[in-house]
Parts: sequence; structure tokens; C-alpha cells
Amino acid sequence: MSQGIFISFEGIDGAGKSSHIDALASLLQQQGYSVTRSREPGGTELAEQLRQLVLNHPMDALTEALLVFAARRDHVQQVIRPALQRGDVVLCDRFADASFAYQGGGRGVDWATLLQLEQWVQSQQGAVLQPDLTIWFDLPPAVAAARLVQARTADRFESQPEDFFHQVVQGYARRQQADPQRFARIAADQPREQVWADVCQALVQRGWLR
Ligand code: TMP
Repeated sequence: MSQGIFISFEGIDGAGKSSHIDALASLLQQQGYSVTRSREPGGTELAEQLRQLVLNHPMDALTEALLVFAARRDHVQQVIRPALQRGDVVLCDRFADASFAYQGGGRGVDWATLLQLEQWVQSQQGAVLQPDLTIWFDLPPAVAAARLVQARTADRFESQPEDFFHQVVQGYARRQQADPQRFARIAADQPREQVWADVCQALVQRGWLR
């Protein structure tokens, strides 16, 4: 079975992931890779519907966690696993670390509950699907807040106070500590060109980019 490369991108709202994901998709295609670009919550018709609910509909923290993992289940089954089996590079704007950071760190959902959900949703033949690389755009919440002021109408996460994002960052840090090899932590408050150079370097180090 051919096996692709799974890369996820994480960070608090306003960290500036999207333009780097677009640029990386183009660069990888130029180097001959077949690229699947997707996002969470979302990436399938069902998961995009769940995304609308999670981002806009009031709900309690555990309901939110169950919905993001339900969306992930559909996305993994329909998009991510088939793409990896084809040998694609999968670039995913957020994955399970976001649930630990936002629902765990930000909302206070029990970590063990999230680990259980992760096992159920991402397991296949005993192995839990994880990205091969997670690029974490680490941005101080105060900088993100200043950027988000100019953004479109805020959703249920973007409208949270700065303190919420400190908790989210702690959630990401806890995930990184648990699996440091998987993470490339990039200081997202550097000039854009430097952030881009760091993104490329993370792939060069793993032998995926020339
Ligand atoms: P984004 O696509 O603009 O990054 O927005 C997605 C939002 O959803 C973002 O605020 C983070 C949040 N989110 C969670 O709370 N849990 C999750 O598991 C995922 C994937 C995203």
C-alpha cells in the first residue's frame, strides 16, 4: 500500500496559517507531489455542516467536543485516509490537536475524555492516525487579538477573550510535550518571509522538500 504524507497546521485564530498552506500546496505541486488540501472542522459535506453549527450555534463544551470529533471521523474516512492511500501529501488546516487546545485547554473538557475520543475516531487496525508533521504557528494571544480586530464578523471562538487563547496555547504546548518529534513550532510573530522560511525548513529537514 502506498502511503502519503500527512501534515497538519495549528495555531490560535489570527496566526496566519492559511496563506502559508496555499503557498506550500503550490510549491509541493511544483516539486511533483499530488496534494490534497483540506480543513477541520470540515472537508466533507457533512463535516462542513457540523462546522457551521460548531462555529455559530451555542452549545456546551462536551457537545462541542463530540461534534468536532464526529466531523473528524467523517473527514478521516472520506478524505484523509483515501488520500494517504493514494500517496498524496495531505495538508490539513487543523486536526485533532485543535480539539485538545480549544475544547481541552480553552473550554476545559477533560483531557482523558478527548484521548478516548481520539482513539475511537482515528483508530484503524490498532493504530491511531496522527499527522507525520504538525506545524504550530505559535503567536502571542495579544498579537492575535490585535489582528482579529480587523477581521470579519467573529465566530464563537474568535469572539473569546484573550485569556481563552492563553488556555488554548497551553493546550497546544501540552500536546507538543507529549509528542515533540511530530511538532515544528514556528514563531508566527516574525516577518512573513521568515515564517515561510521556517515552514519550508520543517519539510526540508524531513527530506520532503528540496
Ligand atoms: P478556522 O478554520 O478559521 O481556523 O476556524 C476553525 C475554528 O474552529 C477555530 O476557531 C478553532 C476551532 N476548532 C475547535 O474548536 N476544535 C477543533 O477540533 C477544530 C478542528 C477547530
